[in-house]
Amino acid sequence: MADSMVRFGRFLAVFLGTAACATTARAAASFDPAHRTFRLDGGNVSYIVAVNDQGMLQAAYWGARLAPDDNVVSQAPRELSSVDPSTSIEAQEYPGWGGGLYTEPTLKVAYPDGVRDVVLHYVSGHAEGDGVTVELADIRRPLRVTLHYTIDPETGIVGRSATIRNTGRAPIRIDQASSAAWSLPVGSDYRLHYLTGRWAAEWTLQERPVTAGSTVIESRRGSTSHQANPWFAIDRQGLSTEEAGPVWFGALAWSGSWRISVDRDPVGDVRIVGGFNPFDFAYRLKAGETLDTPVFYAGFSDHGMGGASRLMHAFQLNAILPGAPTPPLRPVLYNSWEATEFAVDEKGQMALAEKAARIGVERFVMDDGWFGARNSDHAGLGDWTVNRTKFPNGLKPLIDKVHGLGMSFGLWVEPEMVNPDSDLYRAHPDWVINMKDRPRSEQRNQLVLDLARKDVRDHILAMLDDLVSRNDIQFLKWDHNRNWTEPGQPGVDPADQQRLYVDYVRNLYWIIGELRKRHPKLEIESCSGGGGRVDLGIMALTDEVWPSDNTDPYDRLTIQGGFTHAYAPGTMMAWVTDSPSWANNRTTSLEYRFLSSMQGGLGIGANLNKWTDADFADAARMVAAYKEVRGTVQRGALYRLVRPDDASGRVANLYVSNDKRQAVLFAFLHSSTELDVLPRIGLAGLDPARRYRVRPIGTAADAGQEVHSGAFWMARGIDLPMKGDFQATARILEAVN
Ligand code: GLA
Repeated sequence: MADSMVRFGRFLAVFLGTAACATTARAAASFDPAHRTFRLDGGNVSYIVAVNDQGMLQAAYWGARLAPDDNVVSQAPRELSSVDPSTSIEAQEYPGWGGGLYTEPTLKVAYPDGVRDVVLHYVSGHAEGDGVTVELADIRRPLRVTLHYTIDPETGIVGRSATIRNTGRAPIRIDQASSAAWSLPVGSDYRLHYLTGRWAAEWTLQERPVTAGSTVIESRRGSTSHQANPWFAIDRQGLSTEEAGPVWFGALAWSGSWRISVDRDPVGDVRIVGGFNPFDFAYRLKAGETLDTPVFYAGFSDHGMGGASRLMHAFQLNAILPGAPTPPLRPVLYNSWEATEFAVDEKGQMALAEKAARIGVERFVMDDGWFGARNSDHAGLGDWTVNRTKFPNGLKPLIDKVHGLGMSFGLWVEPEMVNPDSDLYRAHPDWVINMKDRPRSEQRNQLVLDLARKDVRDHILAMLDDLVSRNDIQFLKWDHNRNWTEPGQPGVDPADQQRLYVDYVRNLYWIIGELRKRHPKLEIESCSGGGGRVDLGIMALTDEVWPSDNTDPYDRLTIQGGFTHAYAPGTMMAWVTDSPSWANNRTTSLEYRFLSSMQGGLGIGANLNKWTDADFADAARMVAAYKEVRGTVQRGALYRLVRPDDASGRVANLYVSNDKRQAVLFAFLHSSTELDVLPRIGLAGLDPARRYRVRPIGTAADAGQEVHSGAFWMARGIDLPMKGDFQATARILEAVN
């Protein structure tokens, strides 16, 4: 019976695989018992693992889709020398630290009797639908690891995670647990791309050759971090460009401390290992307990960095975001933070709401300052009751007003934090993360609540549930404004205190998940002092993210350019704020600011009390233009035609709708020099056979004069004359046939 199922599975895989090569690819997972290989096919990708004669699970293939009858089999153990043993030079799929492993392990443990050796061998496995499960066990001790694989049918993105199980009676301390090791073939021309930053300067794209040795990107901060993002892409120097050549890429679905290491080993193999950060990590697994790692998603594109990011975007929209595969479009929002900071009150917010409604805003969000004794960042966090001096009648009059103006209402919260100057902290000083008899270091005058505690977890959920139940709130901006320090739990057995790195994040996910379950219409933005918590883990629970507190529209071109390498433009909020910018005193036109922000989810964060009638008219026109193209911007395919690092000082991004009937081109010029004539920009991703009419954004639908084929716009290109400093322009292309 089992055999016939397997044969049927293989038949199905072969059948679907053949169909896939000709038309749209379908996904399939299969097991080949003769060669002991497991294979996943999806999109344009095949992924194969194989069991060798010694029972070692090997990474056999990951790349462009293979023909259904291409067998990739395991390798016989090779031993280069006595100091380059087979264990360390084979591409192991999930290597335990032991038995002569000198390269990066995925699992490292310690037993109470001092044994710290893990050698995992294949036990069993099966393929079903789009997934594979493989069971490994240690050769001597009661330790099991289940590897989980899925493949996304459209994009070929593989999801991998591991469940580590103590099947014995004695506890096991896990010192390192990764989600996956990904192996690339031997090569000396690999180039690693990754994202680093700091507050107000997140999403800087880094690039370096993958030479012998190791590159580590990580967060030790308890959350995802501004400083590095759990995403990587590796292409091949000389072969890969923005739109061509192979790229392997991936991202971790985890919002706690994480680590990704990229190693090129002595024989030239490249391996990417990622999961929980082993730094300060220890997780005691008692008898019968399990530890699930986060999912590490990774994919392959042979259309360069552009192709890789389009796959990531499509995957997030189809499979990750709430509401996937049709997550709701982002409404145009107004946020009061830059206009009022903490000085919010009923009258002031109502006045701003009236003005926001005039320009077509769909959601009004009141930021920090509405609760407790919150007049600055020194007090009030933790006390989520409405400040009656600022809102004598509670939030209802403001919310009713906002609804009456035809907008939904959103509110800022920072549920994981507490100011020592708050009623919550005075009542529960033991609720914060801290170490016994050590200072409780404050950042932004606040401490981190210990979400790993059940009472704290339940308190936060009850507070949010109450807030959303009592008030007609459609949206929360969920902030998180500091990293961890002194990460201890004084009341907990010292042997279990480092579980905090896992338990905190799991409880955070639980709170958000439960809140959404109780309030299915509620939408949430993940904000963390800007872009400090953007990852595929939090994205599964939140509808949008705030990439940076830096709202300068020119800085944003680089910030948003880095962001969209990993994450979908439709998740990325971008506000039009005041000029000159607080960030660097740069002056830009309102149009420039709009065009920069219209490349993601559009928001307005300016002080509307200072706007002229002309500003309102221009803004209303731009908001209307945005609504015409937002489906394409938020859901379409992004082509970075001229990247922010281009020597010309220009940036050009093209968004093409999935049906290829609409495209939107945004272009920006830093400054003109020496009467330079700017080259035409060749478009991409259009249907060569369709004819497209082009017109400036914000003009009437029949304003376009020039009509040409997609082939023309792509091969001959478009002229975008711009002269001066900080110039911006945008065009809409619409298919006429
Ligand atoms: C963080 C956020 C800002 C704003 C402030 C409020 O810095 O990133 O957008 O909400 O907190 O205190």
